[in-house]
Amino acid sequence: MQRLFLGTVLHFLSDPGAEPAPGSWQLFEDGALLVENGKVMRVGDAATLRADQAPSTEIVDHRGKLILPGFVDTHVHSAQLDVIASYGTQLLDWLTRYTFPSERRFEDADHGARMANMFLDRLLASGTTTASVYPTVHKQSAETFFAAADARNMRMLAGKILMDRNCPGYLRDDVISAEVDCRDLIQRWHGKGRLGYSLTPRFAPTSTPAQLAMAGRLFNEVPGLHLQSHLAENVHEIKWVHELFPDRRSYLDVYDHFGLLGGRAIYGHCIHTDAADRARMAETRTAIAFCPSSNLFIGSGLFDFEQAKAAGIRVGLASDVGGGTSLSMLQVMADAYKVLQLKGQHLNPWRAFYLATLGGAEALSLDAHIGNFMPGKEADFTVLDFAAIPILKHRADIARDFAERLFALMILGDDRAVAATYVLGERAF
Ligand code: GUN
Ligand code: ZN
Repeated sequence: MQRLFLGTVLHFLSDPGAEPAPGSWQLFEDGALLVENGKVMRVGDAATLRADQAPSTEIVDHRGKLILPGFVDTHVHSAQLDVIASYGTQLLDWLTRYTFPSERRFEDADHGARMANMFLDRLLASGTTTASVYPTVHKQSAETFFAAADARNMRMLAGKILMDRNCPGYLRDDVISAEVDCRDLIQRWHGKGRLGYSLTPRFAPTSTPAQLAMAGRLFNEVPGLHLQSHLAENVHEIKWVHELFPDRRSYLDVYDHFGLLGGRAIYGHCIHTDAADRARMAETRTAIAFCPSSNLFIGSGLFDFEQAKAAGIRVGLASDVGGGTSLSMLQVMADAYKVLQLKGQHLNPWRAFYLATLGGAEALSLDAHIGNFMPGKEADFTVLDFAAIPILKHRADIARDFAERLFALMILGDDRAVAATYVLGERAF
């Protein structure tokens, strides 16, 4: 069945850049999106699409609201809704004091299933339809997450966390059992429906060299696998990595040494890198998940966005909840804007919305399927209402042009602005 969604439609064709380049997006203020069997058929002006409309086409009226491709969160922890808003620590203390004890509860599969569903409910309520997700070390936490995402037909990446040292015994796996668990999860979930498996060594300090080597072997053996981890987030973490891996030139070089870089690999944070690291990331097509909310909240530092882009690295936006304080990618865009301000850089609204949609899909190598409304892509989208938040409504009403309205939305918006979210053309929120 065909459905024609009416509203203001915006999507991106490429990175608008620092000086927004028209032609990198399409905006149809009185627009329409034609969807059939979960795929985008056409996007354009409502008048044009309605003229060609078949009599049986169902009309869904979102006029006055903004229809955008679903947001893509390139790095988020589904098992950290219990640690969001935890007081007074930086990374290593934050992990020990709050995060590890809370992740322990996911050894219980029922807890995992409940939290996976709550997490996906909150993502959809925030307009996010795809994410690269960290459950916990427990195999069943990945299992319950995949099952919950599959039941909702969502395009999701996830993988059991790998960690076999420098963490409490109750969160520790070992090389052999971890490989067995990964292979089993890959066999059952990788490529099932819209799911993909992402190998997930937590970060270099919590994996032995043998475990990182195992991850590298799998990454290079199984076609289409993704990989995610953390890199250069906090200065104490970096010092620790140098102590643990004295033979490696840099933190990035640890991952490089074990074959963990590549076009389907994405690393969260990457705040404290040098020019050689950035050149190597670009050369290997390794992507970055920029986590501004988390970086401000845990006090990790200010990511140099322009430097990463100048090096030619793909960068996506990420909430990094529970280090980050909101699942709303609108809030993440607002924090990204503020981080760039402190670096003397500027994040224009076109580029911010690109990063939260097509840019995220590109950073996760999922842009063949999602990220914009090119015909044939999967019809995941969200509908945003400028009028749902009084101060946003006021600011948007007096805006001189659409860019100003869009900027108000990313600075003042959050999940209250989400009127609806669709997965494969079906209403999911
Ligand atoms: N580094 C290792 N684990 C984590 C985590 O759970 N959150 C963040 N922000 N950084 C990490
Ligand atoms: Zn993280």
